[in-house]
Amino acid sequence: MCGIVGFIGNEQAAPILLEGLSRLEYRGYDSAGVAICDGGAGTLSVRKAKGRLQVLSDLIHGGADLPGTVGVGHTRWATHGAPSDVNSHPQVSENGRVAVVHNGIIENYAELRSFLESKGVSFVSQTDTEVIAQLIEYFYTGDLLSAVDQALHRMEGAYALGIVCADAPDQIIAVRKDNPLILGWGKGCNFIASDVTAILKHTRDVSYMNDGDLAVLTREGIQCYDHLLRPIEKEVVHVDWEVDAAEKGGYEHFMFKEIMEQPEALRRCLSPRIKDGEIVFEGLSLTPDYLRSLRRIFIVACGSSYHVGVVGKYHLEKLTRIPVEVALGSEFRYMDPIVDDKTLVIVLSQSGETLDTMAALREAKRLGAHVLSIVNVVGSSIARDSDEVLYTWAGPEIAVATTKAYTTQLALLALLAVWFGKTLGTVDEADYQAALAGFRELPEKMEQVLSCRDGIQYFASKYFNHSSIFFIGRNLDYALGLEGSLKLKEISYIHSEAYASGELKHGTISLIEEGTLVMALGTCDRLFQKTVSNVVEVKARGADVLALTTERHQEEMAHNANGVMTIPDICDLLLPSLGVVPLQLFAYYVALMRGCDIDKPRNLAKSVTVE
Ligand code: G6P
Repeated sequence: MCGIVGFIGNEQAAPILLEGLSRLEYRGYDSAGVAICDGGAGTLSVRKAKGRLQVLSDLIHGGADLPGTVGVGHTRWATHGAPSDVNSHPQVSENGRVAVVHNGIIENYAELRSFLESKGVSFVSQTDTEVIAQLIEYFYTGDLLSAVDQALHRMEGAYALGIVCADAPDQIIAVRKDNPLILGWGKGCNFIASDVTAILKHTRDVSYMNDGDLAVLTREGIQCYDHLLRPIEKEVVHVDWEVDAAEKGGYEHFMFKEIMEQPEALRRCLSPRIKDGEIVFEGLSLTPDYLRSLRRIFIVACGSSYHVGVVGKYHLEKLTRIPVEVALGSEFRYMDPIVDDKTLVIVLSQSGETLDTMAALREAKRLGAHVLSIVNVVGSSIARDSDEVLYTWAGPEIAVATTKAYTTQLALLALLAVWFGKTLGTVDEADYQAALAGFRELPEKMEQVLSCRDGIQYFASKYFNHSSIFFIGRNLDYALGLEGSLKLKEISYIHSEAYASGELKHGTISLIEEGTLVMALGTCDRLFQKTVSNVVEVKARGADVLALTTERHQEEMAHNANGVMTIPDICDLLLPSLGVVPLQLFAYYVALMRGCDIDKPRNLAKSVTVE
């Protein structure tokens, strides 16, 4: 939520900030702004505008209007105060001397605002961020770092901050607590950013800030401090993501590009982990004795990652016979979870920054659990705070609706489940080899599914005008339906719900009437006939049924449903990995036909760093 970028160097800052912000729009896109220090003129200029980044860019003519080689920029996902010019960031102090961009929430902002108002300070916005700028100004007596430090001592909540000051035009101060912020090391210039894609064009050398860290950026270097203002050294990490990976590369939408990239992402994720007929997780410290000692596994995640967890529960319980519970990150810490040192907590997160997931991770560790995370973004908070991490290596995912991050998480968790089962002796050699064969053929079979996308586009053209859709399925197909339904609703704004087919008769079937679209998921062989029965039931009540099944059941399904989408046969374990692709494509084409803003759906952000 909210994207931050900052630059200090010798080139004009504003165009660089705008370019960086364009990479961060996935984090929020209801308004944007920049603050530029022009040391020569002694000015601090702030320009901001409600709406997409383009509105701001047009306002300042691509940045040309603003001289100055130091600045911070922001793209917003509103929390405190509706999207508006005045509530956009940067927020400035009353005399215009201090400007702040912020990602996060200041929980005691009302109290701080009253305090400052009692001292005669006037506020113009409804944001919690303005309080930060005013508080820094209040403490400022010529030493910006000291003023920031004093302000931080009074602030409660989560924040990543970029701060510039007219009186200190040759520095940027960066602060991080519970929200992501990285430092970028250039040549004669330095950067801050919410994530690496924003600065990849300029540098690949980054340092990850820890909670409580402060940094002072000058043109010559970056000095970091801990929360007691003691100087600290930061490791510099070289990032090997390609700039092209974060570009559309000729595709109309990032989402479509990322759907198409899935086979390659799976190869990157799986092939180094399957060597000479064995699963190899290099660096993982889980021993057979430890796995045998486990009484329970918890999977914790939010959004689509949670849906991966629902699939993972079926796999892990089946293959290890260890009880598995799946919890939403936002629920975990409030549910008084039964977690101890005999519990393995698997945390799933594409971004590695989701605040609720992060909070759950901390709670799990506090309760004594060992935490293994499956994460896409290297060096992210969740990755760094876990006891062990497996990276999905899906590459940068830009579209808000996740696709390749979901499928790589899914495959990696399935691979982990097989490895656990083999290690525990609950998976025999024949099943192990069959699973490995499945993993090996998965990317190619996914390419087959992608090559049949015209058929899915046809179904989308038939159904894109529906106002409500139900996804039904059992077992793995139910878990798949959760993701298919979310994908559709988040980008096409069609009301959609996923139900375990057996639950239909317990209420939902009352909503089925003439023309209601039901997406029947019937990929699991052993439950196929039951799905067919459910198809017949809803059709008898007037539903239009679009089904998803495997090649072996295609013909039978075609006799019962109004339309059928087909995936190749593959081992059960990997059915959801293939099955999700037609559902992603269906959602994509439906959204396209409805004229929706596919990569930036309304009200959403890719990285949810507020509770
Ligand atoms: C947001 C995104 C979803 C994502 C969820 C969890 O809601 O829009 O696509 O699944 O956050 O994110 P994470 O990065 O933790 O997987």
